[in-house]
Amino acid sequence: MDNRPIGIFDSGLGGLTALRALRQLLPEEDIIYFADAGRVPYGGRSREQIRRMAVQDLDFVSGFGVKAVLVACGTISSNAPDLLQSYAVPAFGVLTPGVEAMACVPGEAPLGVIATEASIRSGAFEKALRAACPGREILALPCPNFVPLIESGHTEAEDPLLRWAVENCLAPLKERGAAAVLLGCTHYGIIASAIRAYLGAEVALYGAADCGAAALRDYLRHNGLTGGRGRERYYTSGSGEEFARKAALFLGREIDGVEEVPVMEV
Ligand code: DGL
Repeated sequence: MDNRPIGIFDSGLGGLTALRALRQLLPEEDIIYFADAGRVPYGGRSREQIRRMAVQDLDFVSGFGVKAVLVACGTISSNAPDLLQSYAVPAFGVLTPGVEAMACVPGEAPLGVIATEASIRSGAFEKALRAACPGREILALPCPNFVPLIESGHTEAEDPLLRWAVENCLAPLKERGAAAVLLGCTHYGIIASAIRAYLGAEVALYGAADCGAAALRDYLRHNGLTGGRGRERYYTSGSGEEFARKAALFLGREIDGVEEVPVMEV
């Protein structure tokens, strides 16, 4: 039993998909959530910047005495896996759990992974999927329009701008008849219904955020580290009011006061 909180961070709203999943799995955990909204999006940045931000964000959340960190960001998970692995506090990314879940998809139809530009450019998702599913066609697609749309509130499946962006980005998956698609960016879970509406219910969607939350649950359970009182504290480098409003919309419940923190220099 360990009552210290869990740290979760992302560039913005995306990591809430991991928080929501973790809440369902471990309702009693205390969670510190950091949304680096002052620097969103991460996905268009250079690898060097992303790696520096990874350490800054890890340092920020570990300052709260957390027992583990869920790095709810595919961009950091794919560009800085070595930094997570060697960090002083156990830090879990979303890439490996997501890839492991996808590797179980039977059949021969192609597998897709969609993520930010920097994630796809790193080649890490594609490489891990190829290693896990030898001989299988892998389609790795960047979707640079998704995060800005999601952060600005275009999240409904019927939203015309979002529908356009989804069709534009995911057409190759439809054309190639992908059997399953890994949502390699945690933001994409927020628009899962728009993605499902376009690809069709027969295409299985795997959320890297959900898989990452499940992997963290397994780690905590196996090591006897679960425990807490179900409390949450939120921090953002953007507008607290805006974050609280958007988070409540996605989570379907109000969240307690969000504290604003200064934007860190990259
Ligand atoms: N949600 C993050 C990810 O999983 C970051 C997206 C972004 O800021 O571009 O990649």
